[in-house]
Amino acid sequence: MNDEAVGAGIPGARERWVRTGGIELCVAELGEPTQPTVVLVHGYPDSKEVWSEVARRLVEDHGFHVVLYDVRGHGRSSAPKPLRGGFTLEKLTDDFLAVVDEVSPDRPVHLVGHDWGSVQSWEFVTVRRTEGRIASFTSISGPSLDHFGQWIKKRMRRPTPRRVGQLLGQGAKSWYVYALHTPALPELLWRGPLGRTWPKVLERMEKPPTAGYPTASLPDDAAHGAWLYRDNIRARLLRPRSDAYAHVPVQLITPTGDAFLSPRLYDELGEWAPRLTRRSLPGRHWVPRSRPDRLAAWVADFVHAHEDSPTGTAGTAVGTAPATPAARSPYGERFGGQLVLVTGAASGIGRATAFAFAEAGARIVAVDRDADGAVRTAELCRLIGAPAAWGEVVDVGDEEAMEKLAERVATEYGVVDVLVNNAGVGLSGAFLDTSPDDWRKVLDVNLWGVIHGCRLFARQMAERGQGGHVVNVASAAAYQPSKALPAYSTSKAAVLMLSQCLRAELAGRGIGVSAICPGFVNTNITSTARFAGVDATEEKRRQRRSARLYGLRNYPPEKVADAVLSAVVRNEAVVPVTPEARGALWMSRFAPRALRGVARLEPPL
Ligand code: NAI
Repeated sequence: MNDEAVGAGIPGARERWVRTGGIELCVAELGEPTQPTVVLVHGYPDSKEVWSEVARRLVEDHGFHVVLYDVRGHGRSSAPKPLRGGFTLEKLTDDFLAVVDEVSPDRPVHLVGHDWGSVQSWEFVTVRRTEGRIASFTSISGPSLDHFGQWIKKRMRRPTPRRVGQLLGQGAKSWYVYALHTPALPELLWRGPLGRTWPKVLERMEKPPTAGYPTASLPDDAAHGAWLYRDNIRARLLRPRSDAYAHVPVQLITPTGDAFLSPRLYDELGEWAPRLTRRSLPGRHWVPRSRPDRLAAWVADFVHAHEDSPTGTAGTAVGTAPATPAARSPYGERFGGQLVLVTGAASGIGRATAFAFAEAGARIVAVDRDADGAVRTAELCRLIGAPAAWGEVVDVGDEEAMEKLAERVATEYGVVDVLVNNAGVGLSGAFLDTSPDDWRKVLDVNLWGVIHGCRLFARQMAERGQGGHVVNVASAAAYQPSKALPAYSTSKAAVLMLSQCLRAELAGRGIGVSAICPGFVNTNITSTARFAGVDATEEKRRQRRSARLYGLRNYPPEKVADAVLSAVVRNEAVVPVTPEARGALWMSRFAPRALRGVARLEPPL
């Protein structure tokens, strides 16, 4: 039964063969069998190697026992004879049970499925005979055919314009499903030109790293796998089961740019999977290749959350996911577990932004030149819901200190998923009163701080190759000229332009860049802003006066923080915050002369 051999497909894996129903399944194992077992099920047209990067991280970074197998007819597993009728969900469930009986006979496993691997895993977690064998299920880009069938039925029975739109939308994305039902043609194409060009097509569509993937078995995998569709789709979509309830906790990870599946498909999933955690991930369909870090981290979190609880048996509400603060935040789905670095995090907008990400379950690096303030922000972040948070003392204008910070963050906490370059200082006063030293001070922080942040952390994101997001806090002053703020406005205009150039450069790498442009926000900036050309007493008087005016305006930094998170989720380019910032942006586009007129007015400060 257990021919163990060194695996060829997954580096370092132990391979064994599991025989079931006349089929030989090629099973690869990594890590210590005494640790929690994670079973990874691949999709179409793939083999277990699609998981190689995720598997490696689950073993090396999280210490799990990881099991992968080639689905029947794929990779090195044998194919059923005849093919027709050999790929039913019932037979795939037999295979899964045979594998887990071999690799984890006494302990339920944590199941992770992608694409067709997820479609079949939905069957595993909704049928009675697997009860007690599965501890949790993470589903990526593959719905239950029963839920999908019910979703269609509901929309056909009670069509509204919105529902018809949803049906048509998913119908258009499913073109390949119809194509795969054509007799013989898919096999001819996959064994011919499509099989040869697929790695290039995949690279163009997704840019996934290609080391050892796709494997040479691809044309055969794809030809055999056409029967996954033919044996199941029509039967299940026409007669979906009405009792397909998940008996385990489910984590649903939805790539936001999936060309094959509409996120709307999962709208009613909570009815079928009562213990549901939702996650969304910027990326296309093949996230096991393009986002292995994030997937491994979310799978690990989910496994830990459900490892110690008894496994779900039908009708018993056990193993419920803890109600984390992240689950309460509207952004928890997206930022849970991500690493977010915020500069200028000891006060105002930076602190509010760190708190908002913490509430969404992100890990926070709070950077500021104010040591006590940075540490305090980190402490509060942990109280609010961040699984981890650290305070770092750095002057963002100091090139060397920033380089050291970037190195330390990468080695100690990992590659940053979201960078918020927020630290900034104010400087008022006429150009003719502004000294070169004044210019240097404001540019060092407001512009060079942003340049260093982007240069160091965006490079790490790009090198990791798994996307990310950069937020630069500019200002409405970036596009609203004023005779009172020449140096500050110039620094912010540069930040706005840098953000847009960088956005163009990094778009192809899945890294978004947003410039946030607030108007007047009630923070400490008024009491620390410098005023050029006046003595210390007059400067103090003006600081007090502007603090009073900003206080009267009383726009809270929390609203800017909310705009930051929303800009990342929607990948927005330029985000004016506050009505005056939106008005000025509108004027800069449609009435620039009027805006230049406003620039001549005497400021109220
Ligand atoms: P704030 O003064 O409350 O917070 C700024 C934080 O940045 C402070 O904790 C400060 O210690 C830190 N900081 C300053 N220089 C630093 C340096 N060299 N290295 C590290 N940390 C440094 O100010 P606020 O209002 O929260 O400002 C945040 C950002 O928002 C700034 O870039 C500012 O220009 C921008 N902004 C603020 C507006 C407002 O009305 N408050 C309007 C538009 C933009």
